[in-house]
Amino acid sequence: MRLTDKLSKTTEYLNTQGITQIDIGMILGSGLGNFAEELENPIFVNYSTIPFFKESTVAGHKGRIVFGTLHGKTILAMQGRYHYYEGHAMDDVTYPIRVMKELGAHSLIVTNAAGGVNPSFSNGVLMLINDHINLTGTNPLIGPNEETIGPRFPDMSQTYTAKLQAIAKKAAAENNLSLQEGVYAGFSGPSYETPAEIRFAQIIGADAVGMSTVPEAIVAAHCGLNVLGISCITNMAAGLQASLNHAEVVEVTQKINHSFKQLLASIVEKIGKES
Ligand code: HPA
Repeated sequence: MRLTDKLSKTTEYLNTQGITQIDIGMILGSGLGNFAEELENPIFVNYSTIPFFKESTVAGHKGRIVFGTLHGKTILAMQGRYHYYEGHAMDDVTYPIRVMKELGAHSLIVTNAAGGVNPSFSNGVLMLINDHINLTGTNPLIGPNEETIGPRFPDMSQTYTAKLQAIAKKAAAENNLSLQEGVYAGFSGPSYETPAEIRFAQIIGADAVGMSTVPEAIVAAHCGLNVLGISCITNMAAGLQASLNHAEVVEVTQKINHSFKQLLASIVEKIGKES
């Protein structure tokens, strides 16, 4: 089935659930899902019921959409995302982004848990993503291009929208929250990186590493969405701390939850419908 036909079927179904138009799409990463509780008049839809959505399998990810309003804007938040390492095709990993665009979103906010590569970082730091490096070994746009959605060779020079970065910095300052900034390098996972891979990431200019976000940002840039990315540094990357585990990742996201929610809410308040 053509992508455009699949999108029509998915949005028709979401329409029947009361989701007809959105301003902002959001992807809430590992342990960061409960921002969705801030949304007013929420509607929950499990991924398992949505046409062409896959099952999500990661601990700490709920696997549902939450639609609601905040500061007068309609928001569709994903509590849990699809990862390439789960065995999903890149098309499936990024399909929700296309759905958000189809529902009228002008902006996408992507969040994730990430390992700190920049030695000045520490656990619990929030990092504004100002660019990324695709180290997944593939690209979600490989395959036939749908010209009505975006160009064959999309420009990635301004993937992370400058205006949204400025809004995020302002929101952080007004809420007395510290917000670092840097480059996110996306690996495929699911194994964490080796210390040598982290030294490589440092040399090529990464400040943080993770296993998500890059495919979603590429697809968002392709279809013309403004993108804002925020990483929660849950651990220092391999070789910069003794050892790594997922329990620590989830624990640290829980610790910063309050500031993270505050920052996101303030950003949403500042995003204009025209942005
Ligand atoms: N590496 C990759 N992904 C991650 C990390 C890490 O150190 N921490 C949280 N997600």
